[in-house]
Amino acid sequence: TTRHKLVVGNWKMHGSHAANAELLQGILAARPFVAEVAVCVPFPYLSEVAVTLSNSSVAWGSQDCSAHVQGAYTGEVSATMLAEFGCRYAIVGHSERRAFHGESDQLVADKAKAALAKGITPIVCVGETLEQREAGETEAVVKRQLSAVIHALGQCIGEVVVAYEPVWAIGTGRTASPEQAQAVHAVLRAQLAAATPRASDMKLLYGGSVKPDNAAILFSQADIDGGLIGGAALKAADFVAVARAA
Ligand code: G3H
Repeated sequence: TTRHKLVVGNWKMHGSHAANAELLQGILAARPFVAEVAVCVPFPYLSEVAVTLSNSSVAWGSQDCSAHVQGAYTGEVSATMLAEFGCRYAIVGHSERRAFHGESDQLVADKAKAALAKGITPIVCVGETLEQREAGETEAVVKRQLSAVIHALGQCIGEVVVAYEPVWAIGTGRTASPEQAQAVHAVLRAQLAAATPRASDMKLLYGGSVKPDNAAILFSQADIDGGLIGGAALKAADFVAVARAA
């Protein structure tokens, strides 16, 4: 299979009008990319990012998506709203949301379903903590997290992007080795293959301290189809170098 690579910048809670403009101009100036490139930005900046990136081949998205369609859900943003701002992607189930906002596997699955219903591709994040890895639970944890989404989406699971992000590798400078990452990606691919004939076409991203100097080896692994990039997505030169490694 020749899966097209995807590199997504997750800005997390970073940015300002001025910083975003500089970052986006740096990314746009580096086109074309062989990989598909996208940025997932804080909600308030979606409108300006949509203007800056329209007709550019660089896609954009959000970092979360409500599981609800509409209603009395203060602070939430619906998939319909995200679609109005041209989001192609919505990250769901990032470990920071699971850890700091108590998001359950079921809620993450419901969010993925809500995004997909409005034509937005969910980037479903899974990953184990250091404690879980050391207890030998990595495989069981990521399978449980993915299983909830498979169950909620049925055959539509083939339309999502899955990101494997070991929690201990996020923002720590300690990346999973290419072998460690590939091993988990192979487990996830096999789990998807049991659920959909499209598993071999699905994109599985790796995230966790991806930098210009380790991106190429990670992205060259058999089941790693690109990356979800945090810290290195905040400087144009770094993000462009990572995108070019894909
Ligand atoms: O979504 C991105 C990941 O959490 C990775 O963050 O590249 O700063 O380690 P990082």
